[in-house]
Parts: sequence; C-alpha cells; structure tokens
Amino acid sequence: MPRLIIISNRLPVTIDKKDGELFYYPSAGGLATGLNSLDTDMERIWIGWPGQEISDTTVQDQVKKDLREDGLVPVFLSQQEIELYYEGFSNETIWPHFHYFTQYTTYNDDYWDAYQNVNTKFATIVNELIREDDFVWVHDYQLMLLPAMIRKAFSKVSIGYFLHIPFPSYEIFRILPWREELLEGVLGADQIGFHTFDYMRHFLSAAYRIGGHEHSFGKLAIKKRMVNVDVFPMGIDYDKYAFPEREVGKDKVEAHVTRLQSKKRKLIISIDRLDYSKGIPQRIKSFEQFIKKYPQYRGKVTLMLIVVPSRTKVDQYEKLKLEVDTLVGSIDGQYRTFGWSPIQYFYRSFPFDELAALYKAADIAMITPLRDGMNLVAKEFIASKEESKKGVLILSEMAGAANELTEALIINPQDSNDMVEAIVKAIEMPEEEQERRLVKMQEKLKRYTVKHWASTFMNEQMNLKSVKERNTTNLLNEEKKTTLLEAYQKAEKRLLFLDYDGTLMGFQNDPKKVIPDEKLLNILEGLKADPKNKVVIISGRDRHTLEEWLGHLGLDMAAEHGVWIKRRNEWKTPDLKKDWKPDVRHVLEGLVERTPGSFIEEKEYSIAWHYRMIDKGLGEKRVREFRDVLLYLTANLDLQVLEGNKVVEIKNAGVNKGKAAAYWLGKDSYDFTFAIGDDSTDEDTFRALPEDGFTVKVGLGNTDARFNVLDVENVRDLLEELQK
Ligand code: UDP
Ligand code: G6P
Repeated sequence: MPRLIIISNRLPVTIDKKDGELFYYPSAGGLATGLNSLDTDMERIWIGWPGQEISDTTVQDQVKKDLREDGLVPVFLSQQEIELYYEGFSNETIWPHFHYFTQYTTYNDDYWDAYQNVNTKFATIVNELIREDDFVWVHDYQLMLLPAMIRKAFSKVSIGYFLHIPFPSYEIFRILPWREELLEGVLGADQIGFHTFDYMRHFLSAAYRIGGHEHSFGKLAIKKRMVNVDVFPMGIDYDKYAFPEREVGKDKVEAHVTRLQSKKRKLIISIDRLDYSKGIPQRIKSFEQFIKKYPQYRGKVTLMLIVVPSRTKVDQYEKLKLEVDTLVGSIDGQYRTFGWSPIQYFYRSFPFDELAALYKAADIAMITPLRDGMNLVAKEFIASKEESKKGVLILSEMAGAANELTEALIINPQDSNDMVEAIVKAIEMPEEEQERRLVKMQEKLKRYTVKHWASTFMNEQMNLKSVKERNTTNLLNEEKKTTLLEAYQKAEKRLLFLDYDGTLMGFQNDPKKVIPDEKLLNILEGLKADPKNKVVIISGRDRHTLEEWLGHLGLDMAAEHGVWIKRRNEWKTPDLKKDWKPDVRHVLEGLVERTPGSFIEEKEYSIAWHYRMIDKGLGEKRVREFRDVLLYLTANLDLQVLEGNKVVEIKNAGVNKGKAAAYWLGKDSYDFTFAIGDDSTDEDTFRALPEDGFTVKVGLGNTDARFNVLDVENVRDLLEELQK
C-alpha cells in the first residue's frame, strides 16, 4: 500500500522541556492546524521539526519513541541550524521577501548555506524512509529545495509541493540571488499547488523568465517530466468551528461565550500571530481613528486584540512587539474610562475551546493583513456563525481568503479611512444582511473544507501518476512506445521526417550556435545506415546551413519549410518569386528598430523575424501588429506568415512542410511513416502523413500529432531506441 508522507518544517506538535520533563503542545499557524485535521485512508507519516533544540541523544530517542505512535518523525535541528536556517533564511529572507517586505529581506550567504544543509538533512531522513510507490507531499517555503533533492534519489516517486504563503510577482522574486535554485528546487515536484491564481501565475512567470520553462495551461515539461501547477485554496475543518461543543463540551464553550458577551458591548476580535505581514499596527491605528471620529461609539465597542507570539528571536518581530505594546498602551491611556477599555490586549495563544468561544461571541472580526497567503482565522470566524447567523467579517483584499470570502467587507489595509468606514458599516449592518452574507460564505466553506483541499490535491497528484503509467493522454508512455517500436521493427520500408530546431536540438538565443553535436550525428548516421530507412530532415533553416551541418550525412532534406528540397544529393526548388522581399524586409526592419533584441534572418525565398531574446508577450504583440501591416502591404502578393517558436517567417503561399512531406510520400510507398517536430510549422507535416503514420509533437501544446514527448532529450532517446 502506498503511504502519504507529509513533510513540513514544523510538526503539528511542538515540544517544550520543563525541569527535564517533555511536554507536547499543538503547533500554531495555518499549516499545522489545517493539515492536522486532515484524515486519509492511507497510512500517514509526518516528518518535521518538533520546534525545540534537543541535543541530548537519549532525549532524542525518547522524543522519537513518543512521536512514533502518532506517525510523526522528528528532524532535530541544532541551535545554529535554528538560527541560520529557520530564523535566518526562512524567516528573515524568504518570508519577508515573499510577503513584499523587501526592506526586511536579509541577504546572507551563511543563511543560504544553512538552508541548503537543512534541506539536505530533511532529504536524507526522507530518502531513508520512503518507497518508490509512496506519495510525498512537501509543504511550504522552508523546504523549497527538498522536492528536487528527493527527485534526485527517487526519479519515479510522486512528489507534491504546496506553498502556503504568497508567491510574489516575478519583479520581486528575481531580486533574490538564489532565485534559480529555489525555483528549480520546487520544480523537482510533479505537482505544485498555490492558494490563489495570482500566486500560480507569478510562479509560472518566474519559471519562464528565470528558468526558461514554458507552460501550457499550467503544465510544464522539465527534464523528461511533466509538472502540473494549479490552484488549491486551503479550507478549514468546518464542523470543528461550527460546532465546537461537540469537541470540548457545550458547557465549557457556552460559559466562555456568556462571559465574553456579559458587557453588552459590540465585540470586535482581531486574531493573528505577531507578524508584520498581518498589519496589526495599521489595524490598531484605524481603530483609534474610529473612536476619535465617532465618539458616540466610545464605551460601546471593544477591540479584543489577540496576538500570538511567533518567531520571537527574529529582530523584526521583536521590534513589532514593542510597537504594538506602545500603540495599545497609548490608546488605552488616552481613551480608557472607569468602566471601559477600548482595547483588550492578549499576547499569548488560546486553547481551542476559548478560541472557538471568542469566534462565537464576537460581533465583528477584523482580519486585515498587509499580505497573507490564505488566512484561516477569517474562515474559522465565518464557520463559528453557523448557528447564530450573526456577525460581520472585515477582510483585507491582500489575504488569499478574500478570493473566496467575497461577501465580507473587503478593505485595503493601507487605507485607514476605508477601514474606519468598514467598522461603522459592520456595527450598523442589519441582521438580515449579516445573515445573507454569512450564508453565502458558509456554503463555500462547507464545501471546500480542508479535507476537500487535501483530497483534491492528492487526487490530482495520483491522477498525474496514473496518467504517466496508463494510457489516458497523448504522452508517449511505455505502452505507446512499444506499439511504435513494434511497428518500426515489422516494417520493410520506412519514411522518417525529423524537424531540426526544438526537436533534434534545443534552442539557443543565437540560432547560428545550434550546431549538431556528436551524439545527434551518431543517431542520424545510425538511422541512415539501415537500408530500410529513408530519413528526411525537414526544417525551416536555409539550405546552406543544413548543408554545412548535415550535408555530409547524405540525408534527404527540406530547407526553408520546403522551398528547397534535397533528394538524391541534389537541391531543387520550384520557380518562386522573391521580388517581394525588399518591401517586407523594410517592414521587419521597423519592427527590429522598435524591438531591441530581436533580429532578422534572410533566406533565399523567405524572411524571418526572431524574438527569442525578448519578452514573449512583447514579441507576440509585435507579431500581431506586424500581421496587420503585412496584410495591407501584401494584399496582392501571394505570401503567407508562418509562426514558429519565437520566430515569424514570411514566404510564398503554398510552400510548407506538409507540401514537402507530400512530395516524398508521393515518390514511393512506405509501410511505416513517422514525423516529429515541435512547432506549428510541423503541424503541416503531421497532417500530410497517412492516418496510421506515427506523428509526435515535442512539448505539450495543442497538436494534430498522435503523441507528445516532453523535450529534446526524449526525442533523442526515442530515436536511439528505434535503432536497438
Ligand atoms: N490559532 C490557534 N490558537 C490561537 C490563535 C490562532 O491555534 O491562539 C490558529 C487558528 O485557529 C488558525 C491558525 O492558528 O488555524 C492561524 O492560521 P492563519 O492561516 O490565519 O495564519 P498563519 O499563522 O498561518 O499566518
Ligand atoms: C505560516 C507558515 C507556516 C508556519 C506558520 C507558523 O502559516 O506558512 O509554514 O508553520 O506560519 O510559523 P512558525 O515559524 O511558527 O512555524
């Protein structure tokens, strides 16, 4: 039976040592609380740090033993590792950076070294423990290198990765000196999940701009593997917060609620870890502005400010603590009366029964982070109103949860006026409206629970695995490859069309540098040596280049998408016009002038504009503009525009790779036909082949080919296998 192996920096339990005795507490934060309420039929093993330095090996053994019963495996970190990897790189580099607090990002090579070492430490423990058929699920920003490390040891194991914090825009991410390593580390997974579509698109943009990995609807081809990137918004254990009394007893919760509501004041709650990303000072200030601007509410409204200690050794968190203390003190001192204090401030965490009662008793929840991956507190508050249907949520648009909780009062946490007016609106909101909004949000939360989140993620991941193993997509898996190889072996006369760039050779910024390597030449020679084969290189390249690079092999070739045909060692071309070229070149030169980094390639009967080195989006925009001008210019000329991979080519109409392929197909009869290529110009070849021909597209995009392979490496492997 495959097992589910969860790996996160922090285990769902944290250890405390007092007088030599060990105590185990539930860990704070969305990841631990969310994942811990996940139940699955699979055997579950959770690997992570128990939140304390434990150096004594006898104590370590005791901890291992205690945790084993619950399927937990501890990773022990030394004090130095805690400082450099956890407090350092994780929480002074990635955390602030990914939350757009670049002014707090620390660039420190020692932190980076420790981050790599601790990820390796996790990998060692994981690799000792897992089996090839397990499902591995790595969590969060502390372990971004881990997926690739596990992949290195287990090439086939199914790995998922989920980022619980925002993935920042490419412009922010690119600033990190270690951006490439972090990106490639995560890309070791088969599936990568984010809370929102924005985080996903930022990630895909970074994968393209930094790693050069293109995607097709969230699917990327990485080193012969397919990686699926998708959105999986994390939910909560709805019933736990809707009916807390089922867990901790009715009396207990009710007693807390009664006590909290005894003053008959409007109760606003604010609950978060003490973190600068949560916007706590801004929230306090806006509350002050509210009581200043609307004195009629003094004595009638209380803000219950619950701040849970977090990462207390990190400088910025310490400073924030001071700032919050001072702010609360100053407001309290200024506005407090004998019977009322505007803010009730708690700096500690609450056990579940008290937290659930707080949610239930509150009239309003103010959840106004400056940036937050998801924010589960907002969802828990809404669930707690299942029975009363009374309560208003004021929610920051910068929280991932705002994408789902659209019926909340959505505010911009930097706009204090917006927040003040939202407080007033919340206080005065009629009960019917409260109910209407709550019901809509509750419906969503009941459906998209944490269980649903985890099972959707896992199902997708399992699906991907079975897609790889079974016959459900076009990917040329082992089974389909066998069919192809058998047909090849059986055949007496074979015709093979091979595209060059993006198929036999990978792309480079300068097309002139894509000279065939020795491995490729050997493959082609091998194919040619079989007397049953007719091998045709079918390319958009000019014939001189093809001749120079491949001429000595004596293969048939089609150059310039079929303008030139080489058969029996002789190049031929139909009588085509080329007097249109100067006009088109003139237009293209204008394009180059406006688009630095792009360039023109002139061939005998065609002209191409390459935009490999510039932003893809800009290149595509220019192509569209150019199409309009060209249409006007060439209304009476019989030309066509071929769009390749970051290149657009203009040539005479009626010439394409399909026509060229038909030429060879018409010359003889074959019992095995094969074509392989990567871009839209190869689609013409695919269409020209007979129905039982084997057509293969390199890459994942839409295609008329029967099969897809992921990249050039796969092509070469396949061509080598044909010869075995
Ligand atoms: N929480 C808790 N005790 C407390 C306060 C909060 O267990 O005293 C839990 C809360 O129920 C929620 C989590 O901590 O599940 C906070 O998650 P959230 O996504 O809101 O923020 P994060 O801490 O992950 O940034
Ligand atoms: C956020 C992070 C989690 C982290 C939690 C608590 O939710 O996404 O990975 O565990 O905060 O932070 P801590 O540093 O105490 O683990």
